[in-house]
Amino acid sequence: MYEHPDCRIKLARNEDNYDLLFVQEIRRYFPFTPFVGARVRNDFVWSNCLFKRNTLVLLDVYGIDHDSRLWKKPYEFQPERFRKWDGNPYSFIPQGGGDHYDGHRCPGEMVVVEIMKVSLGYLATKVNYNVPRQNLTYPLRRIPTLPKSRFIINKVRRIY
Ligand code: HEM
Repeated sequence: MYEHPDCRIKLARNEDNYDLLFVQEIRRYFPFTPFVGARVRNDFVWSNCLFKRNTLVLLDVYGIDHDSRLWKKPYEFQPERFRKWDGNPYSFIPQGGGDHYDGHRCPGEMVVVEIMKVSLGYLATKVNYNVPRQNLTYPLRRIPTLPKSRFIINKVRRIY
C-alpha cells in the first residue's frame, strides 16, 4: 500500500473482491518464503535428474513465482493479474506447491489469506499513518524473510 498508493484506494473501495487480488499479488511478488529445503531420503530420478540420498535440495519458490514463462511481467506488481489466473497450483507457490490434500501446499494458506484481507482492509479504511524513512529492502537468502526495518509507521490517526 505504501509503494502503490493506488492500490490502497482500490482496497478501500474493495469492488469485485479486490482485496483477494491484492493479497494474492503480495504473496506472489514478495518473498513470503524465498525457498524451502528438504533432504533426500532415498536416491530417485525426477525429470532426468538424479537426486542422491542425503542431498539438500532447495525449491526456488521466489524464482517460480517470478518466472516469465509463467507470469507476464513478473517484476511488476499487478493485483489484477489474478482475475485471469488459471489456478495452476504449481505456478503459484507462495506457501508450497501442489494440492492442499496430497501435495506440499501449506494447509494454513486460506487462514493466511483471510488474516491478510482483514488486516490490510483495516489499514486502508480505519487509520491514516505516516511512513518514516527506513530500509525496506529484504534479503532473499533467509527464511522467513522480512524488510530490514520491518515496517515502521507513526502518527497513527483513527479515521472516523
Ligand atoms: C505467511 C504465513 C505462512 C507461510 C509463508 C507458510 C508456508 C508454508 C510452507 C512453505 C510449508 C511447507 C510445504 C512443504 O514443502 O511441505 C508449510 C507447511 C505447513 N504449514 Fe504453513 N505457512 C504459513 C502459515 C501457516 C499457518 C497460519 C498455518 C496454520 C494455521 C500453517 C500450517 C502449516 C502446516 C501444518 C504445514 C505442514 C504441512 C505438512 O507437512 O503436511 N502455515 N507452510
